[in-house]
Amino acid sequence: MEESINKSTLNPDGSEFIVVSNRLPVDRVPLDESDDGWRRSPGGLVTALAPVMATRDGAWVGWHGAPDEELAPFHHEGMDLLPVALSADEVELFYEGFSNSTLWPLYHDVIAPPEFHRTWWDAYRTVNRRFAQAAADAAAPNATVWVQDYQLQLVPRFLRQLRPDLRIGFFNHIPFPPPEIFAQLPWRREIISGLLDADLIGFQRASDSANFLRSARRFVGAGVKAGQVQFKDQDGNVAHISRAAPFPISIDASQIQELAVRPDVIARSRQIREDLGNPKTILLGVDRLDYTKGITHRLKAYGELLTEESLKVEDASLIQVASPSRERVESYRLLREEVDGMVGRINGQFDTLLNTAVRYLHHSYPVEEMVALYLAADVMLVTSLRDGMNLVAKEYVAARGDNTGALVLSEFTGAADQLKSALLINPHDIDGLKAAIMRAVNMSPAESGRRMRAMRRQVITHDVQRWSEEFLTTLQHEAVQQ
Ligand code: G6P
Repeated sequence: MEESINKSTLNPDGSEFIVVSNRLPVDRVPLDESDDGWRRSPGGLVTALAPVMATRDGAWVGWHGAPDEELAPFHHEGMDLLPVALSADEVELFYEGFSNSTLWPLYHDVIAPPEFHRTWWDAYRTVNRRFAQAAADAAAPNATVWVQDYQLQLVPRFLRQLRPDLRIGFFNHIPFPPPEIFAQLPWRREIISGLLDADLIGFQRASDSANFLRSARRFVGAGVKAGQVQFKDQDGNVAHISRAAPFPISIDASQIQELAVRPDVIARSRQIREDLGNPKTILLGVDRLDYTKGITHRLKAYGELLTEESLKVEDASLIQVASPSRERVESYRLLREEVDGMVGRINGQFDTLLNTAVRYLHHSYPVEEMVALYLAADVMLVTSLRDGMNLVAKEYVAARGDNTGALVLSEFTGAADQLKSALLINPHDIDGLKAAIMRAVNMSPAESGRRMRAMRRQVITHDVQRWSEEFLTTLQHEAVQQ
């Protein structure tokens, strides 16, 4: 497939600013729902970067989500989109395999056992090279290229080889593991050197950045001083200097705030409460159906609270939104069976003809419906076993304009570094989790108001716009210094 890269870009002079991510920021929709069959994906990243795209002649390189399909570059809502094709084999080996069955579990504390296969690694290299080539073809001289996430860690290296003139940034949206775990990866040196060809490598938490620097020292002998990494080639000459630092990502806070005061969204949130029989307390979980999210831990705690009658099904209801994800990957299939089974057992035991203990919704919803759910929920449960950031926690906080509601938040999320007034929990400690849920359910309005105000201040002043500006300004500065 290497030869079939479409070299044409929409901008003959090349783009000044290029984002490279595994997925393009658009989803296919039926033609009667949009003019060109595409709709901008929900999510903060594209919202933050779209204005930068517009002012800097930007382009976005990414996969459009279907196997075995070559698409020409196209323009959508002010952005040039440059699709990268993946064959069905590559989807299996690069996306489901190396990205989501090797790197994803390895970088999330090996909650599921990572698998190491040389054929997957070969596909990862090939596909990363293709993304790099697409960016190299589209970039104007001295352009800035911002590469996103764990699926593309070799892109900085390939891109640097193809286009030494570029300013290259990389941001890892998921955790970076400690070297003791990263050491398992047979290709650990290649991954570290791949990243080190970026001028700036961003992470969610200070601990992720520190983990990366320790691995850079240990596995490629990089010299590290104050976050700066000197990488020497085989002859001992300094090949490249880059910088690693935390840049915690956030949400489009004003979009969530605006939706939270829209009359139709407020009406919908009331409807949700009514449909559930106006219980005293609505608890809410919103996750991709992923084993990193601690959904089974949450259900276990909730089930025990019902068994012990600390909560009664007449008074409390848990809404669990679990959006379908990576469904062809075995560990995700197993998780779905486990969650389906747990929900069935809890509901079988506690439901009445009028009340349901767990409303389990295996769907994705538009952002308006999500905000209505945030408004309807008295308690938000985020119980991840490991999570790069967790934007749902921040969205819940942004939606609670009247400073009511309580957030139970796992300390293993990036968000826990910023939302210090949440009820922080260790999801493995089921008794601790149960106690925190009960504390949230019974919290006085004064205490929840105080906590929510502090969290809202943080989220509203640190939105995704600020995140992208800080990263890009630092990238500019780093490159100038060299
Ligand atoms: C996480 C990753 C993203 C990824 C998303 C959805 O948030 O950090 O890179 O796009 O999950 O997963 P998917 O495999 O559907 O792209």
